[in-house]
Amino acid sequence: MQQFQHTQITLARPDDWHLHLRDDAALTYTVAWTATQFARAIVMPNLKPPVVNTAQALEYRHRILTARPKGSSFQPLMTLYLTDTTLPAEIERAKASGAVHAVKLYPAGATTNSASGVTDLDRAYPVFEAMQQHGMPLLIHGEVTDPEVDVFDREAVFIERHLLRIRHDFPALKIVLEHITTAQAASFVREQAAVDARGTPLLAATITAHHLLYSRNAMFSGGMRPHYYCLPVLKRERHRLALVAAATSGDARFFLGTDSAPHARALKEAACGCAGCLTAPHALELYAQAFEQAGALDRLEAFASHFGADFYGLPRNPGQITLRRVPQCIPEHLPYVGGDIVPLDAGQTLAWSLVA
Ligand code: DOR
Ligand code: ZN
Repeated sequence: MQQFQHTQITLARPDDWHLHLRDDAALTYTVAWTATQFARAIVMPNLKPPVVNTAQALEYRHRILTARPKGSSFQPLMTLYLTDTTLPAEIERAKASGAVHAVKLYPAGATTNSASGVTDLDRAYPVFEAMQQHGMPLLIHGEVTDPEVDVFDREAVFIERHLLRIRHDFPALKIVLEHITTAQAASFVREQAAVDARGTPLLAATITAHHLLYSRNAMFSGGMRPHYYCLPVLKRERHRLALVAAATSGDARFFLGTDSAPHARALKEAACGCAGCLTAPHALELYAQAFEQAGALDRLEAFASHFGADFYGLPRNPGQITLRRVPQCIPEHLPYVGGDIVPLDAGQTLAWSLVA
């Protein structure tokens, strides 16, 4: 039994280390959601067409900055989308720009807008070499695309087939295994003790709020629930428990990345619905719920506000945010391009509210 219930918690201003903002008209909505909650965010490059070079990343960054609400100091941290034709020289340009903070590896066909991804890891080896040399982190969507492999096993098989090899061949490359969903991924990260010259881990992982809160049962409770469908797909309860243990352990190799991935309602509630959960508008409240359920609210600040910045070699944010134990109902839908959008847990009540 909990002896003492916090009525409010104050954290150093947090960052989101894995986010989809989309582009153009969508930015009006997505940038406002995240800027309310986070100081900075690592912005995914899987646009149509993808962000494959530094010039495109800088233009995209400008569009995001322009879409910020008045007075917002939100900072987008840009990424490049790795393809079979990315050149090592592009890594040098990206590093020199100061605006590009990582490169994203999507195995071709693994998820939304990943068709231009890498078809054969060997082709990316010269680029990995350049990234290792320039200290540019590699962000990995860790799922194999082999149709023979069961969709629930794709992350674990990726680790065995590919990640072990990348880690072995590029021992000094900084790697983030994004949105981990399995006990195997959490163990793999924990087993890697190597650190860089600053003493920060060479391998880390982001964890989403939805993977902390839900097992795959959520997708099928009383019917098909498309708003709980994302990639990598939610797994069994034992995996969720392993992720909660990792996130609340105080281990600096696990930090916050929402993977908030907006798709208009019509594209989710469809015969072939898109993958992605919208968590950005209530992200911190959702994480607070997960940490509180685990009796670990005191570990939330480091996970949300310290470890990610330390990994990326960026200063921790000045300023603070406060969450109060004031219940709030998540709206059934929010306005969005293409009509409306349904946030995760629409219609449910959250225990916590972010104080504006
Ligand atoms: O669920 C997901 N949605 N997973 C991804 O990897 C991509 C994302 C998206 O862009 O919609
Ligand atoms: Zn993502």
